Amino acid sequence: MENPIGVFDSGMGGLTVLKELVQALPSEHFVYVGDTARVPYGGKSAETVTRYSIEIANHLITRHDIKLLVVACNTASSLALPAMRKIYKIPVVGMIDPCVRRAAALRRKSSIGVIGTLGTVRSGAYEDALRGAVPSAKVRSIPCPLLVALAEEGWTDNDISRAVIAEYLSPFRSDPPDALILGCTHYPVLKGAIRDFLGEGTVLIDSGEEAAMVVDILLSETQARSKGEARRAEFFVTDDPERFARIGSGFFGRELCDVRRVTL
Ligand code: DGL
Repeated sequence: MENPIGVFDSGMGGLTVLKELVQALPSEHFVYVGDTARVPYGGKSAETVTRYSIEIANHLITRHDIKLLVVACNTASSLALPAMRKIYKIPVVGMIDPCVRRAAALRRKSSIGVIGTLGTVRSGAYEDALRGAVPSAKVRSIPCPLLVALAEEGWTDNDISRAVIAEYLSPFRSDPPDALILGCTHYPVLKGAIRDFLGEGTVLIDSGEEAAMVVDILLSETQARSKGEARRAEFFVTDDPERFARIGSGFFGRELCDVRRVTL
């Protein structure tokens, strides 16, 4: 059996990333771990998020012998990636570089917005990477923690979600950015409402879509692509599998069967 690709997130949001990976790489086998017992990571310290991330990565490497790790959680990508890259020999793909790569490739990029959890925005990880890749851009970052709860509630396009989005994104109202990085696993499900608020002039950069492209390129470059047929995804969570399966199916876009509980 060929080695799988490991994907982890603080919970179910990373399923938006897995959805893109499965679509772009149908012959790969994925093992997903959602740390539902310790979610959210968004308000936790760098030390804690790094410790959790390393525990999950160790589990995926020792138990599943993964060939590549995708850190689907933007908060973990912002806070733990440098430490993880020092530890592991396998490629570790986070969400920051793929989004920044896309921003740098845009024609209009003089103003770039970033939205994410408190941890992601406070870390400055996106801003640092953008400063290197698009030095001329004006970067504005806004933490939008309530959007995670709205997405999990399934309130993706109602009066409440529109009001919360309008409040958070009010600094962009009179001056929309050329691009907005959706720097959190949960935001892709709110894309419609965000696009309606900002208008068609702003390109929305989805971390899952961009990461799937980067993983595709990496597998080709390292000749690590699976040669098998359509493969499957396995799901593990650190808390109640039932809630994950029920709400997570909205993020993944299809039913989630056989979600198993794991102790790290
Ligand atoms: N997965 C997290 C992220 O992308 C959002 C949820 C959390 O705070 O753990 O930043």
